[in-house]
Amino acid sequence: MRPIGRHPDSGGYRRFAWTGADVECRAWFKAQAEARGLAYEVDRNGNQWAWLGDPGAGDAVVTGSHLDSVPDGGAFDGPLGVVSSFAALDELRARQVTFTKPLAIVNFGDEEGARFGLACVGSRLAAGQLTVEQAHRLTDGDGVTLPRAMEAAGYDPETVGPDPERLGRIGAFVELHVEQGRALDLSGDRVGIASAIWPHGRWRFDFRGEANHAGTTRLVDRRDPMLSYAETVLAARREAQLAGAVATFGKIVVEPNGVNAIPSLVRGWLDSRAADQESLDTVVGGVERAAREYAAAHGVDLDVVRESFTPVVEFDHALRDELARILGRDSGKDTDLKVPVLGTGAGHDAGILSGSIPTAMLFVRNPTGVSHSPAEYAAEDDCVAGVTALADVLEGLACT
Ligand code: GLV
Ligand code: MN
Ligand code: MN
Ligand code: MN
Repeated sequence: MRPIGRHPDSGGYRRFAWTGADVECRAWFKAQAEARGLAYEVDRNGNQWAWLGDPGAGDAVVTGSHLDSVPDGGAFDGPLGVVSSFAALDELRARQVTFTKPLAIVNFGDEEGARFGLACVGSRLAAGQLTVEQAHRLTDGDGVTLPRAMEAAGYDPETVGPDPERLGRIGAFVELHVEQGRALDLSGDRVGIASAIWPHGRWRFDFRGEANHAGTTRLVDRRDPMLSYAETVLAARREAQLAGAVATFGKIVVEPNGVNAIPSLVRGWLDSRAADQESLDTVVGGVERAAREYAAAHGVDLDVVRESFTPVVEFDHALRDELARILGRDSGKDTDLKVPVLGTGAGHDAGILSGSIPTAMLFVRNPTGVSHSPAEYAAEDDCVAGVTALADVLEGLACT
């Protein structure tokens, strides 16, 4: 796949939902589907599908991922799953298997939430985890709403909404993804199976103080929201460490954003994730309490808004066991592939869909564990092992 949306300076990818780069990726997906003689369709939420067999028959086996990216993301997060899906289908055709179930490849829209602040918009809408009203209110940093952005990309925003009929025709969804950690590197395995996704969410902290002159305002006269924000970042680190969780302030907006002006507003987004709900509540509660204390100490007002939340996801046990059986040593295949089962702190469309349909994930080794960065990497051999594993899984699920 040529480097759609790669930034010439950073080397990272900027493929935000419904922008020109996303439209280019979507054209690529459609061309891949058509080149393979698959039936191409766009669902009511702008997700793309490529079908082999009758989409209406039911009990379909679906694989795929997403093509959008975070700001300056890597090449693998999302696209590896979509590219591997097409490659696995090619592999199955080379094996001359007989499909007994319909098979589809999907590209879910706006998985990263980089533009509108909410991750997995395409799958959330389909699963009814985001209402039409909420979706219509989503607005990007330039004030463009989701409906206007979809329209500008040539998609119809009026149709968005829950799609239970479509999801009801799916018997299993398997998403292949680059691992976003080092568990496989440490265990020495190329491919793993996901067990669970940590509960996670995004909270917006608005610290409001008073803009004033950086040169003439005495320190004691300042109501500087940057100070309370900075102290809150440190508190987030402490709370996360205590709970064995993670907490990140990765995005910030400052007004008026002048070198020689004390800010009037510092808006920071907290992303926090933990192995269980109780730990996550403890972290976020602790950060908010600390933030209120610091805000009060600096004469600053604070509003905290939860912008999104995804509860813990346990992937379907039966499907997970089936994947382990297909890929494992007891599969009868001549393979030495070990397939560890691992949890992750990263969110995925598969996590959203697991509330509606049996869902599983395959991870491909990432030697440094780096993700959401241009340095994200997976070796070619490991990607090929991922395609073979996905082909085996699809054969086991759709050809029996
Ligand atoms: C998306 O990749 C997320 O986990 O935030
Ligand atoms: Mn991602
Ligand atoms: Mn991803
Ligand atoms: Mn993700």
